[in-house]
Amino acid sequence: MTRAAVVGVGAVGGVVAAGLMSAGRVEVTACVRSPLGGLRVLRPDGSALEASVPEVTDPAEMSAVEWVVLATKAHQTAAAQPWLSRLCDAGTRVVVLQNGVEHRERVVPLAGAARVLPAVVEISAESRSRGHIRLFDQPRLTVPEDDDGADFAALCQGSGIEVTSTSDFVTAAWSKLCLNAANGAVTALTMQRMPVFANPRITQLGLALVEEARQVATASGARLPEDLADRVIARLRAMPPESGSSMLWDRLAGRELEYDARNGAVVRAGARLGIPTPYNEAVTALLEAVSASGNPS
Ligand SMILES: NC(=O)c1ccc[n+]([C@@H]2O[C@H](COP(=O)([O-])OP(=O)(O)OC[C@H]3O[C@@H](n4cnc5c(N)ncnc54)[C@H](OP(=O)(O)O)[C@@H]3O)[C@@H](O)[C@H]2O)c1
Repeated sequence: MTRAAVVGVGAVGGVVAAGLMSAGRVEVTACVRSPLGGLRVLRPDGSALEASVPEVTDPAEMSAVEWVVLATKAHQTAAAQPWLSRLCDAGTRVVVLQNGVEHRERVVPLAGAARVLPAVVEISAESRSRGHIRLFDQPRLTVPEDDDGADFAALCQGSGIEVTSTSDFVTAAWSKLCLNAANGAVTALTMQRMPVFANPRITQLGLALVEEARQVATASGARLPEDLADRVIARLRAMPPESGSSMLWDRLAGRELEYDARNGAVVRAGARLGIPTPYNEAVTALLEAVSASGNPS
């Protein structure tokens, strides 16, 4: 049986671990910092998926596996190195389920001889308590259209997770990052849910954040519509009033924020390409300060 290890068994990793386990064709291990005592995924239709995924808390107990699913927050990647060192060899593929566009830059230096497969994550899920996850929509992942992407799609068959491959992964990843440049930053900084985008000044700020990201994306080779910012902000304004963002939930809980892989990545790519990104620079500075304080009030 194929062996897979999930590192980062939170909202996204928990959905994937439970799905792979339920498919019954993969031997899954949850690599966790402290025991979860099983996984329970509450699906959008009200049904629940319970999965007793074997858990390991000490990297020394693990050896190399065929697949590693890495689903920590981006800023937690370096701390996962002890797991990757044990789990990876030349026959391993590491699928990175994280937001942003720098999956390979972040993970290749930590993955030894393993190959790294980036993924765009469209899994809207919230970790209610350890091992208890609420899933809001059909889980979807997008991977590059290559042999590793095809093998990962095959691995996920029967798991309930839709895996799509694309020949234009650059556009897929930047498209998601353009959305994230506005929603996470604004909701986390204001500590308000999506209706905050109804405020006209916030609308303007959101448009500016996305437009900067779009210009950087285009210069990076992504093919995005010129009116992307209008579309993104219209989409955010139409979301249900209770909608927020994972960065808002992290701020409310006093946790470190994943700003660097989002607005920070826009700033870095902009600097490399000679494109000014003053709005993203400003929110990166603010989010860095907020994240370091760890204080939601
Ligand atoms: N949630 C969503 O709806 C959503 C949607 C799209 C994209 N994403 C992206 O998906 C990625 C994962 O997000 P998430 O929402 O699933 O995050 P999350 O719920 O915070 O889960 C992260 C998990 O990583 C674990 N972890 C952190 N450091 C670790 C380490 N050194 N060793 C082992 N485990 C470690 C944490 O364990 P502890 O429990 O011990 O802290 C936690 O369970 C992020 O890049 C996020 O932006 C999320």
